[in-house]
Formats: sequence, structure tokens, C-alpha cells
Amino acid sequence: MNNKAIGIFDSGVGGLSCVKELLHCLPGEDIKYLGDTLRMPYGVKTIDQLHQCAKDNVDFLQRRDVKLIAAACGTVSSNVPKENMDNLAVPFVDVIKPTVNAALKATKTKRIGIVATPATVKANSMGKRLKEMDSSVEIISVGCTDFVPLIESGHIDDDIIRQSAEGYLAQIKKFGVDTLILGCTHYPIISKVIGEIMGSGVTLIDSGRETAVGIKMTLEKLGLLNAREKGGSTEYFVTNNTDAFDSVAKVFLGEDAHVKSILKGIEE
Ligand code: DGL
Repeated sequence: MNNKAIGIFDSGVGGLSCVKELLHCLPGEDIKYLGDTLRMPYGVKTIDQLHQCAKDNVDFLQRRDVKLIAAACGTVSSNVPKENMDNLAVPFVDVIKPTVNAALKATKTKRIGIVATPATVKANSMGKRLKEMDSSVEIISVGCTDFVPLIESGHIDDDIIRQSAEGYLAQIKKFGVDTLILGCTHYPIISKVIGEIMGSGVTLIDSGRETAVGIKMTLEKLGLLNAREKGGSTEYFVTNNTDAFDSVAKVFLGEDAHVKSILKGIEE
């Protein structure tokens, strides 16, 4: 047992898709969430820049004495392997493994689509892992540059996000998949729109949700679960203005995020 908090980071609201599932499956856990909104979007950054972001986020959460850190961010998970995070002193969970496992479990036709940020698609970590696990799968990956900025500015279920999604998903529909990985943790926030476009025959894999499953499994395995079964608290930190974060969190989580600290950049 360990009653310290779980640390989670993302560039912004995306990791809330992980928090949402954690609140459901581990309601006794305390969570400290960092959204690096000042440097968002991550999906168009270089590997060196992503390395720096990951390092700063890990340092920030470790200063808050967390027992485990999750990169609830497909872009960091794909571009900054755990082995390259030399400042990491606690167990670490990323998006790739749990998400790929869920997709392989779901697919019957072995035709899998991946939508993610350009940096994630370029790194192809999910594609490589899918192939390693099952060489017979056929994969189509599409980078969706506009999704994150649109979601961060509150376009969650309107004509603007729908039009953008129709554009990105057209080639995946043409290719024909039965499983679509939402490889950026922001995308589950627009899963209603994506699901309507793809149709009911396509299973959507929520990378945020699967990361939460990975966190639960890791805590269980290491004996680090909180002794409490419910009543955990969540503290949110962002590196820039909280308005957009608050309003998306309210719609997506169905509750006020009550962002505690506005950090002027990550150093504070
Ligand atoms: N939510 C993150 C991801 O899963 C970051 C997206 C971004 O900031 O571009 O990739």
C-alpha cells in the first residue's frame, strides 16, 4: 500500500481522458495532474523539445512527491522512451503498451487505423509495436494536426470539429478498419464525433482510458495501491491560463476542475 498521489501529465486537457477513467476505476487514489498548456501543442514539436517537456513535467510531479508518473500523452510516449528519461525516480506508465494491447484484443479483421498527432505518426511507435505483437495486422496512420488546437479551444461537438474530422477520417474509411486507435489522449474528448463518422462497426480505442488501465495494473503489481477505496482528491496544475482548460474539463468530466495553481511556465 502507498497513499501518495499518482502524477499525470499531458500538454493540456488530453490527459483528462485518463483521469476520467481513473476516477472510475481507482476512486480512492489522489491525483496530481499537470497540463503544460503554455507549450501546447506537443504534436508538432521536435524530439529534443519533447524530451525537455517530459523532463520538466517529470521534475514538477516528483517535487510533489508522487508514487508513479504517467505520461498521458501519446506524443511524449512515442518520442521519449522511458529509458531516455534520466531524471525518473518512480515507476512510469505510458500510452503505447496498454493502447496497443486493447486494439489487438478488439480487432477481428486485423485492419487497424491510428489517428494521432503528426509527431506520434512520424515516430510510428504504435505501428511498430502492433506489428511486433502481430505481424499480420494491416495499419493505416493519419496525423491530425488541427484536432488538438480545436479541442483546446472548446470545439468538442460542433460543425468545425466535425468538418475537420471528416477530412482526416476519409482515407481511413476508404482503407476499411474495424478498430481505430485514438492515439492522442485529446481525441477521446471528441469520440462522439469520430464515432458518428466511422460508424458503429468500428471500435474506438481510447488511449487515455487504456493508460488508466495500465496505471491500475502497475500499482497492483507493485503493491502501491492507496489503502482507501474511495474519496480520493484531484489537484490540477496548468502552465498557462486556465479558462479553456476549465471549460473543457467541465464538459468532459462533468465537474469543475478547480485548477489550483497557475504556473508561469514549469519552473515555479
Ligand atoms: N494529448 C497529447 C497526445 O496524446 C498531446 C497532444 C498535443 O499537444 O499535440 O499526443
